[in-house]
Amino acid sequence: MNRGPFIFVGLFIVLAFSWANLVNRPIQQSGQLSAIYDDSERKPRIAPGAADQGKLVYQQMGCVSCHTQQTRLTVGSDIDRAWGIRQSVARDYVGQYPALIGDRRIGPDLSNVGAKELDSEWHHLHFYNSQITSAGSNMPSYSFLYDVRPVIGQPSDRALDLPEGYEVDPGYEVVPTRRAEALVAYMLSLKVDYDLPEAPSPEKIGL
Ligand code: HEC
Repeated sequence: MNRGPFIFVGLFIVLAFSWANLVNRPIQQSGQLSAIYDDSERKPRIAPGAADQGKLVYQQMGCVSCHTQQTRLTVGSDIDRAWGIRQSVARDYVGQYPALIGDRRIGPDLSNVGAKELDSEWHHLHFYNSQITSAGSNMPSYSFLYDVRPVIGQPSDRALDLPEGYEVDPGYEVVPTRRAEALVAYMLSLKVDYDLPEAPSPEKIGL
């Protein structure tokens, strides 16, 4: 008996089923999502240009290998950990290419880190040497994003205010490079403090 037609039909069904569920279904579910314009505000917000450059630094440095950007409610509540005010949904990532959701959490989730009381000075000290702000941290040092240079004339007002034990040689100062400035701008832009119809904040739904 010629088994050819059966093999063909079998393969066709398997491939058609895979395509329908793995390709077409996600496109139907979230491929058409767009931003919402509400009271002249765009949700999700557009990050300023410097933050966009900082996102590239974030990608280059591999920060995504230790940090997620997704507030989850399923495995332990990220809201209890004060990492976010509501669950992240697909629309939060509209316009992000790539969306740096991440899947490993060696450090805290960063989806809402810009809403924390961490100012740019804190972020710079933390990137320069995480031990300064967070003793015992296993986050690597990104001191190569900072220039150590001799003070010529007036010290720079951008120079880091290093605490005792971390100072550089007298007559020298540590100044953030443009990449470090952009990375900090990116951190400060990560703020999910707005509602979306499919994900109202818990206060709004009375939880
Ligand atoms: C080896 C894993 C690892 C890598 C890589 C890493 N981090 Fe971290 N990060 C941590 C850990 C652990 C903490 C918690 C302790 C601390 O604050 O240092 C942390 C904390 C942070 C915090 C403070 C968050 C908060 O809510 O307090 C920020 C911001 C941060 N990391 C940004 C970055 C950025 C940006 C990069 C890439 C340049 C990066 N991290 C790379 C492990 C990592």
